[in-house]
Amino acid sequence: MRVAVYPGTFDPITNGHLDILERATRLFDEVIIAVAEENYKYNLFNLEERTYLVKQACKHLGNIKVETFDGLLMNFVQERNAQAIVRGLRAVSDFEYEMQMAMMNKKLNTHVETVFLMSASKYSFLSSSIIKQVALLDGSIRGLVPVEVEKSLKNKYLEQFDNKEE
Ligand code: COA
Repeated sequence: MRVAVYPGTFDPITNGHLDILERATRLFDEVIIAVAEENYKYNLFNLEERTYLVKQACKHLGNIKVETFDGLLMNFVQERNAQAIVRGLRAVSDFEYEMQMAMMNKKLNTHVETVFLMSASKYSFLSSSIIKQVALLDGSIRGLVPVEVEKSLKNKYLEQFDNKEE
């Protein structure tokens, strides 16, 4: 059984992530989406919300599992007996960071491979931050994120706006 882990913060999941995930499910028998608990980043959505949105977005995929992880990614990968880590590469700018992570992960466990999938060109400019910025400023993010994410972003910013008004 070929098992891969697709890790990330997913704050929130975008169609770019989904594209990578769908392609990974065709290469592996099972793909475990590992939502990072703490990532030294400011997260708009908490872990429960991020995980819920990932689950909603992946309902149509059969051979996936959605889990959360804390601490070292490699420990999680080993505990799940996975052979690979999947990451998406969007542009040259991703390369340095991804190479550093892949090499460190290789140092931690030489038996686990990092498999890079090139982003579809129509999503190569996407990031969770840019989606959040456009949503905050009331721009359209239709077609770039799952419908549930679009709704949740709208609600989140309305909530924040209401709290400021009080
Ligand atoms: N389409 C759209 N956006 C994409 C994308 C794709 N295919 N691939 C990456 N991104 C974006 C994300 O939206 C995110 O955008 P943001 O910075 O604006 O939020 C950015 O690229 C990178 O995010 P992500 O892919 O979620 O990875 P990450 O860098 O947030 O998380 C972990 C990386 C969680 C895998 C890594 O930090 C980790 O392993 N942490 C655990 C601790 C550990 O083991 N550390 C040692 C690792 S060597």
